[in-house]
Amino acid sequence: MALSGPVSHRTRVGIVGAGPAGLLLSHLLARAGIESVVVENHSREYCEKRQRAGLLEHGTVELLREVGLGARLEAEGIEHGGIYLQFAGERHHLDFRELTDSTVTIYAQTEIVKDLIAARLAGGQHLEFSVTDTAVTDIDTDRPLLHYTDSGGVRHEVTCDVIAGCDGFHGICSVAAPAEQVWERVYPFSWLGVLADVAPSTDELIYAHHVDGFALHSIRSPEVSRLYLQVPATDEISQWPDDRVWAALQHRFALPGWTLQEGPIREKSLTPLRSYVRSPMRRGRLFLAGDAAHIVPPTGAKGLNLAVRDVARLATALTEWLGQGDPRLADAYADDSLRRVWRATHFSWWMTSMLHTVPGDDFNLALQLSQLRQTTTSRAAATTLAENYTGVAAA
Ligand code: FAD
Ligand code: DHB
Repeated sequence: MALSGPVSHRTRVGIVGAGPAGLLLSHLLARAGIESVVVENHSREYCEKRQRAGLLEHGTVELLREVGLGARLEAEGIEHGGIYLQFAGERHHLDFRELTDSTVTIYAQTEIVKDLIAARLAGGQHLEFSVTDTAVTDIDTDRPLLHYTDSGGVRHEVTCDVIAGCDGFHGICSVAAPAEQVWERVYPFSWLGVLADVAPSTDELIYAHHVDGFALHSIRSPEVSRLYLQVPATDEISQWPDDRVWAALQHRFALPGWTLQEGPIREKSLTPLRSYVRSPMRRGRLFLAGDAAHIVPPTGAKGLNLAVRDVARLATALTEWLGQGDPRLADAYADDSLRRVWRATHFSWWMTSMLHTVPGDDFNLALQLSQLRQTTTSRAAATTLAENYTGVAAA
């Protein structure tokens, strides 16, 4: 009996993961005439529905527009010129337009992923969902291999010039390229996130400090609200029935003369909070980008924006290298990216530390209130927050 081996293919860049990082990298490379293959272990439907980020920096919006992904973003995105910081029974507005001449935009990650998948498929790019047993090998040679089994059970082997590991925090690529150094902080709380079919009760996001825990009121559309609650890291979703979620949100956002509207909860999920940075972001011909290389806690909304900046830089570097034979930007990718990653890591840690409470730690509580007061009364302190939040500081 003849044994058949895997089906062989050839591409320039093999990309693991069809999250925002992998899909955008493939899109940017295609615009530069560089072909890629993207493999993803979940279904298209799952990728398009997974609730996560919602807030885009100005630079992210500009980039998406420049590369032909601006149509729906322009029609449905909601531009915000600031945020509210709430603490000690007061709500203060920070005006980003005035402080930094910049804004942010609400446009859900689900919508970016839908736009990118549609663009990849319309461009005839090779995009495989529901694959299994993804592996990368030979990364220290000049012909790295990407292996996977397609949804029909057929094994494939793709010979690449370069592989991009865009497979998130639990992916296989960071294991294939072991880190020399890792910096990590695990926080003792999670975010319980809910998507509710109710008009937002606010015009801009509210970050609320409360002795019983942080709460965030975000927005998805004029009809849909996105809300988050700080909960102990040991909690499980079953401990948070809908009425308990609304009671906690009402308690933490409470302000005389203001009402939080309630509605049916459509989706509920728990996210443990973690900071993680690894170095280097490259081994041989395997480059890591997005959550595969770093994780920030969500307070401050940096994760997706960082992933977009990573792949924008990586696409330029690979275009110069594979297109013109100049490897300098590719060689600089890991160090250049880390500088930006550390700025976002510090800002996300700072926002998290200022807003999340630690039960019984009154010293910490007093420091947080002092920091919040300074941030809402000192123009210099407010500008620092605004520059980091809008991404002006990372440019
Ligand atoms: P991912 O989105 O994780 O994509 C990786 C992909 O790789 C996945 O589709 C996965 O299925 C696939 N994959 C994994 N392993 C394999 C394998 N072996 N083979 C094939 N495919 C594989 N960021 C912001 O900027 N703004 C926000 O407002 C914000 N809010 C957030 C709120 C929450 C509750 C959470 C959880 C995150 C938030 N983030 C935010 C962070 C943001 O969602 C992530 O940083 C972003 O998803 C990173 O994109 P990525 O493409 O690097 O990784
Ligand atoms: C959202 C998430 C964040 O982490 C944040 O800081 C702001 C907004 C959101 O999902 O809308």
